[in-house]
Amino acid sequence: MSNKLLVKNAKQVVLICNNGEKFLTKDGMQKLCVIENSSLVIGSDGLIKDIGPASTIDFQYAGVLFDKVIDATGMCVIPGLVDAHTHPVWAGDRVHEFAMKLAGATYMDVHRAGGGIHFTVEHTRAALPSTLLASLTGRLGRMQRAGTTLVECKSGYGLELQTELKMLEVIETARRTLPINISSTYCGAHAVPKGKTVAEATTDILKVQLPQLRERMSAGALRVDNIDVFCEQGVFDLSSTRSILQAGLDMGLNINFHGDELHPMNSAQLGAELGALAISHLEEVTDDGIAAMATAKTAAILLPTTAYILRLPQPRARDMLEAGVIVALGSDFNPNAYCCSMPVVMHLACVNMRMSMPEALAAATINAAYALGRSHTHGSLEVNKHGDLLVLNAPRWEHLIYQLGGHQELIRYVVIRGNVV
Ligand code: NIG
Ligand code: FE
Repeated sequence: MSNKLLVKNAKQVVLICNNGEKFLTKDGMQKLCVIENSSLVIGSDGLIKDIGPASTIDFQYAGVLFDKVIDATGMCVIPGLVDAHTHPVWAGDRVHEFAMKLAGATYMDVHRAGGGIHFTVEHTRAALPSTLLASLTGRLGRMQRAGTTLVECKSGYGLELQTELKMLEVIETARRTLPINISSTYCGAHAVPKGKTVAEATTDILKVQLPQLRERMSAGALRVDNIDVFCEQGVFDLSSTRSILQAGLDMGLNINFHGDELHPMNSAQLGAELGALAISHLEEVTDDGIAAMATAKTAAILLPTTAYILRLPQPRARDMLEAGVIVALGSDFNPNAYCCSMPVVMHLACVNMRMSMPEALAAATINAAYALGRSHTHGSLEVNKHGDLLVLNAPRWEHLIYQLGGHQELIRYVVIRGNVV
C-alpha cells in the first residue's frame, strides 16, 4: 500500500519534543526541538513513519508512491494544535450579554440575573439534536481551519439527564463522522439548575445522570473521556465537587474540571489530591494550590480569552511555570468567550500572561494533549504518533503567534491522520 503523505523540504519542522516526553515543563518548553530543511512521511495507517533531513528522505523514498506530496519549500511544519477546553454544543444567541459586560456587569451579575449558562440551558434543552449537530459541525470546522486537530468538547448546557445525554450523543456523532479528533467531557455539574439546591443537583448527578451515562458507555453507545464540575462560590462547593469527581473517577473518567476561577476555592488542592489530569481557569489559585498541582502532575489549562473578556486577573502562568506545573492552553469556546482560534489564544497567552512563544506552542500541543490523556499519540511530531500537522506559509513558525488574526492565509494545509482536511 502506498504511503499517505510526503511533506518535503520544509524550512523548519517544529517537532516540539523528540524523546517520547509526555509533557514539557518550563525548561523543556523554552527549547523546543526544531529541525531545518527537513521532510516528513506519513504512512498508510495515518501515523508518522519518518522525519529527517530532506536529502536523506529524498534518497530513502526515491520511487516510493505517495497519495499526496506537499512541497513545503520556504514553509514551516508544526504539530496540529490541541484545544484542551471548549463548550461547543449549544443553542441561543448571547451577543446581548457582551454589551452588558462591556457596560460593567460581571460574569456572576449576568448569571444571577438568569442569563449566562441559564439562558443557554433553556435554548439547548429546546433544540433538536440535528440543530445542535449542525452548529457544532460549523464551529469545529472553524476551529480546524484555525489549526486545531484535537479538541475537548463538553456537555453542560442541559443540567438534567435527557439534555446532557443529547449533547453527549451529538458530540459522539461528530467524533465518529468528522476528521477532527475529539475528547468528550461530561459536564452535568456546570451550574445548579434553576429551582434546585446544590445538594439536590448533586444527588441527581450521582444517582440519575452518572448511572445512565455508565450504562450507555458500557453498551458502547457513547464514549466519554472526562468529567468536569464548575467548582465555584454560588455553583458547586468543594464537597459536592469532590463527590461528583470521585464518582466519575470510579467510572474510569479522567478528572478535568473548572476550578479557582472567580474565587480561591482550594480547587487546585482538591484536584491534586484526587489525581486530576487537569484543572481549568485557576485565575484565583493560591501558592499552595500551585505547589500541589506541580507535585501531582495535574496540568493547568489556562484560558486567556476568559480573563480578557471578563477583565479578570490574568492566570498566573509565570508562577506556575516557575513552580514546575504542566501548563496547557484552551480557547474556552462558549457563548461567553466566542473564540475558535488557538493562534489567537497563544497570542493572548504571550502578551497578557507573559509566556514565551515556545512555551505557548508547547502549551497548545504536547501539554494540552497531556491534559486530555492523549500525549502518547498526539501533540508532537514523532515517529508512530498520529500524522496531525499544519503547514505554515511563513519563513519561521513563530508567525503563527505573532500575526493576530488572518490565519486562513497563513495556515496553508491542515493535515489529520495524513489527510489534508
Ligand atoms: O469556562 N466558567 C464556567 N463555564 C464557562 C462559561 C460558560 C458560559 O458562560 O456559558 C467557562 O468560561
Ligand atoms: Fe469552561
